[in-house]
Amino acid sequence: MTPLRSDGSSPRTGIEIMPYQRRYRQELRELLYRSFRSHVHLDWHETDAWLDAGKATVLLAWEGRRLVGAIAASEPVDGDCWIRVAVVVDDAPPMPIMHTLWNILRLDLRAMQVKRVAILMLREWLSDVFAELGFAEQEWIVTLRRESLESPVELNPPNLTIRASEPSDLEAITAVDHQAFDALWRMTLSDIRQAVRGAASCTVALIQNAIVGYQISTIYFDGSHLARLAVNPNVQAKGIGGALVGDVLRRFTRRGVPSMTVNTQLSNERSQRLYRRLGFQRTGYDLAVWSVRL
Ligand SMILES: CC(C)(COP(=O)(O)OP(=O)(O)OC[C@H]1O[C@@H](n2cnc3c(N)ncnc32)[C@H](O)[C@@H]1OP(=O)(O)O)[C@@H](O)C(=O)NCCC(=O)NCCS
Repeated sequence: MTPLRSDGSSPRTGIEIMPYQRRYRQELRELLYRSFRSHVHLDWHETDAWLDAGKATVLLAWEGRRLVGAIAASEPVDGDCWIRVAVVVDDAPPMPIMHTLWNILRLDLRAMQVKRVAILMLREWLSDVFAELGFAEQEWIVTLRRESLESPVELNPPNLTIRASEPSDLEAITAVDHQAFDALWRMTLSDIRQAVRGAASCTVALIQNAIVGYQISTIYFDGSHLARLAVNPNVQAKGIGGALVGDVLRRFTRRGVPSMTVNTQLSNERSQRLYRRLGFQRTGYDLAVWSVRL
């Protein structure tokens, strides 16, 4: 088993750290599946493919020959990244394992010029563990829902065209995404490719043949989800965001899809105003985002 690393801070724990390798995929998969303390936040990605793609930093913790924990951070975007996977075995105290993993991960991320690491608090166990690692609340993600088979009256601004996206649009979509979102929320080209692959609808808004906005939506068994919406800041507040959402709502309404949900940051008042204008209301299902500066 190579190469083992120890952070030197907890010499008596007997925990050693190594980078993920594909041959440990099955052990990691079982640990993620069986453990109560298991966190996987991969959005559109399938776990095995994401781990094996080699873009994330993935560390495994071993006690002898037993896999006792793992942590994985996403490919950094402009100095920010996310903890996408965190897991600890049920029958050991979590802190020595997570501390040892985090101490090595932090060094690896610093070497990659990462400045901030965030985690979406999907499960309760994460707060105790990540508070001890130095993470603190940064933001809340709120959920809004629109329940109606009526199409919204949201007219396209003049000179705006909306059409289904094409594979050759991916780079322009990524550029709009990076212009519109702060670093922590930006998606990589491969994230966007993956999201479009799994989407029921991806449309782009064009002015004079240039892509200035896009949306990605999925359909679930009982409704739809607006997964992504962005408009180039140079042309915001002209009705383009509203036109994109209105258009996808009309498409889904024609297909008989009765509802749409969307998540956005609590601090993102502009997007919430847009969603309220189109008939969305807060559901009360909120999730915290915690982060730490390196
Ligand atoms: C949220 C976002 C998509 C909105 O896009 P947008 O094109 O500016 O949206 P709209 O123009 O339809 O609506 C925004 C405002 O412009 C106003 N507006 C709409 N049409 C207008 C027009 N023709 N002229 C002037 N203003 C107009 C709307 O009334 C609205 O005002 P309000 O916020 O005071 O209610 C955009 O701000 C963005 O990309 N933000 C960063 C990414 C993001 O937050 N995405 C969503 C969260 S996941």
